[in-house]
Amino acid sequence: MNLTTLEIISYGWLAIAIGVHITMFFITAPFGRHTSKNWGPMVDNKLGWIIMEAPSLFIMSYLLIFGTYSFQSYVWILFSIWIFHYLNRTFVYPLRIKATDKKMPLFIVLNAILFNFMNAGLNGYFLAELADPSKYGSNWITSPIFIVGAILFLAGMAINWWADHLLINLRKPGETGYKIPRGFLFDYISSPNLFGEIIEWSGFAIMAWNLPALTFMVWTFANLVPRAKNHHDWYKNNFLDYPKERKAVFPFIF
Ligand SMILES: NC(=O)c1ccc[n+]([C@@H]2O[C@H](COP(=O)([O-])OP(=O)(O)OC[C@H]3O[C@@H](n4cnc5c(N)ncnc54)[C@H](OP(=O)(O)O)[C@@H]3O)[C@@H](O)[C@H]2O)c1
Repeated sequence: MNLTTLEIISYGWLAIAIGVHITMFFITAPFGRHTSKNWGPMVDNKLGWIIMEAPSLFIMSYLLIFGTYSFQSYVWILFSIWIFHYLNRTFVYPLRIKATDKKMPLFIVLNAILFNFMNAGLNGYFLAELADPSKYGSNWITSPIFIVGAILFLAGMAINWWADHLLINLRKPGETGYKIPRGFLFDYISSPNLFGEIIEWSGFAIMAWNLPALTFMVWTFANLVPRAKNHHDWYKNNFLDYPKERKAVFPFIF
């Protein structure tokens, strides 16, 4: 695949993200607290997470190891932080979530596989086969763009992990219900974990400064802003004492 082909696919993929973003405000993705049996066959929740996130981890690992240019510049840094994130999302996060009898539709798993195949495929292929190695040379890792992006990436990852940790630990062993999360960024927004993930991949896009990374940032925003709104509305519908001043995902804004 040449650069022009990859760019055409990326723009098409971006256009789909915008359509999905709008649709998700009207159709709630049926997993987690919103899970539903109306979407066809169901799979175990933990297994579903592992299967649907694994393609991203394996595609990026393969392209890092076997890509033509993966070690001819500092692009290995971008590969490494992506792989680090997806090691958590594929194995650590699913094994940590409290076991409930909840399942997720196979439809969600298949959609997420496509999502991960496209995003890891575009980003990994570009970095391993098409990126100009001189762009990611030693000047790049000392540039303000790289440093600002790296700070955002790390801050976003820390927020995402800590918020997921607090949410997972709201349930004591054996509990399956939901509680109002309090403290940390939960005093401002309903979904700090989703906020952190958006910051994280915005940081990655700034660090990488290329079209596929921008595409992934837009997809993350497109997915997670409506999901955070769905979570926020769900809390308000299920807890009469839910804090009124709390926003969905961006403190003081939305
Ligand atoms: N990159 C992307 O596009 C993308 C897309 C989706 C998710 N993600 C990431 O995947 C992770 C999970 O997302 P999510 O929307 O499924 O998160 P979530 O609804 O906030 O759930 C996170 C975990 O905490 C539990 N939990 C949440 N709120 C709770 C409460 N009030 N009381 C008790 N337990 C609670 C959930 O249990 P239940 O499962 O039983 O509800 C789940 O195990 C996040 O880190 C998110 O950033 C990324």
